Amino acid sequence: MKLHRNLLVLAMLLALVCAPCAPAQKASADLNGHAWWRHAVIYEVYPRSFADSNGDGVGDLNGITSKLDYLQALGVDAIWITPCFPSPQVDFGYDVSDYVNIDPMYGTLADFDRLVAEAKKQNIRVILDFVVNHTSDQHPWFLDSKSSRTSAHRDWYIWRDGKGPGQPPNNWLSTFGLSAWKYDPTTKQYYYHYFYPEQPDLNWRNPQVEKAMFDVTRFWYRRGVAGFRLDAVDTLFEDPNLTDNPVLPGTDKFGRPKMLEKYNKKLPEMHTTLQGLRKVADEYDAVLIGETWTSNVAQLEEYYGANGNELQLPMDLMLTELPLSANTLREHIQAVNAARGWPTYVITNHDIRRSYSRYADGVHNDDIAKMMAGLYLTLRGTAIMYYGEEIGMENNDPKRKEDVKDPEGILGWPKEIGRDGERTPMQWNGSVNAGFTTGKPWLPLPESAKTHNVEAESKNPNSVLSFYKRVIDLRKTEPGLLEGEYISLNEADPNVLSYLRKGKDGTVLVVLNVSGKAQSASFELSKQGMAGAKVTALAQNAVSAPDGVLKDVKLEPYGVYIGRVSQ
Ligand code: NOJ
Repeated sequence: MKLHRNLLVLAMLLALVCAPCAPAQKASADLNGHAWWRHAVIYEVYPRSFADSNGDGVGDLNGITSKLDYLQALGVDAIWITPCFPSPQVDFGYDVSDYVNIDPMYGTLADFDRLVAEAKKQNIRVILDFVVNHTSDQHPWFLDSKSSRTSAHRDWYIWRDGKGPGQPPNNWLSTFGLSAWKYDPTTKQYYYHYFYPEQPDLNWRNPQVEKAMFDVTRFWYRRGVAGFRLDAVDTLFEDPNLTDNPVLPGTDKFGRPKMLEKYNKKLPEMHTTLQGLRKVADEYDAVLIGETWTSNVAQLEEYYGANGNELQLPMDLMLTELPLSANTLREHIQAVNAARGWPTYVITNHDIRRSYSRYADGVHNDDIAKMMAGLYLTLRGTAIMYYGEEIGMENNDPKRKEDVKDPEGILGWPKEIGRDGERTPMQWNGSVNAGFTTGKPWLPLPESAKTHNVEAESKNPNSVLSFYKRVIDLRKTEPGLLEGEYISLNEADPNVLSYLRKGKDGTVLVVLNVSGKAQSASFELSKQGMAGAKVTALAQNAVSAPDGVLKDVKLEPYGVYIGRVSQ
């Protein structure tokens, strides 16, 4: 009996000791053997702006935990939290000074463990943001690196002599303005920073850097993290000879000469690092998402790796740059769909104007938001949704330079106003600070928070939120949307984008009016082997299409129709 009790105590102690090192959430597969992330809706949370639990005006981890019920009801499968690690916050967390802790502003490691555990109960996985290219200039590695030319961490960063007095080593530019080199008077050399000077680039050619960074991912996987979004992977490597970049005609938004970033971006060595990160991820059944800026689909394909051994989900950020045009969207989707690898669709994020503001025509704003939901949530691929898209949040851009918080906007004003506008607090209700905080929110809310908020839209069956919920639900329940191949229809129509998602257990028709005028689209599916097919509406907005034999779908401006097709 006593032995029994002792064993029990031992078991409880073990459980306590091992709580923080729980195994990573296993990548469960669906009935067809697909990894969970293939059908997932991954929801990006910008922690400063999601929910503030302690009234300091800045969101935090406990705030996120308090909103898990909402995320579960919305149908979210995983949250990607942008950096919540200790940081001087020069780039709002993308300047990390300790990769294996939580910034006190956001809470503690215990809060993080609780968030992961509570999320797991709701079947929501947690994905973190890994800032791989650079650290903060306050990271102990950099402090040591800059302390002397012979310090243990000197070669963890990129240090070089200037070309001459007051002249940086070459002509490379920082993406946030000015040169990419900063002179350090103590050791009389320059260090390289692709982003702000407070974000020195790590030297990924040094195996010690690689080991330390790979170990960071292990630390979080053991804490139950399901994967990472990898920040700025394109800039991991630089030409070791520091060759000058070719200068192009004209000037950029900071008034500097335009350049082709030939020698400090997209160097092939990055793929070796991605393969290494993937190897570690595979040990934990984890998923890797990439911040992958590309100008064409061939470039995007490269991030999957030659043998599918790099990123599972390189983001298609090209979609965020396309105009609202049925032809352009059709062409792009077809190309992505034909490419090797599983598509990952994104319509905005914390660096890009909100899709609501990008596409707004002042008359049909909500209809456009629903139409976009009808698009990226029904395509064959994983969808990454930025917080607030589901309620039609708009950009709230600063009007005066003195209000700008993002240093990029301070430096680039007025041509570059920075990214504050797309990072404003989540709109939970119609109260003074939209229910985000009881204090003073770190960024101001737009007027539209009074109408576009979770509480108001939950009560309205015609709201953007209700439409998002419906479509996300269909993603999970309609076999055609889960499994179906993408078949483009009526390709000559310049206004209406339509396609089938045709699977062995079901087919879904999606019809989107990508224009500000009423349109009518006719369908005849004999070519697709479904002559005389019938349809039943599953979700629609600004549309008239009777259930029954499929023929004409009449769409008001930006109308959207999603129907189940049967024979
Ligand atoms: C991309 C991130 O999304 C952005 O917010 C950040 O400023 C840069 N990388 C630098 O880390």
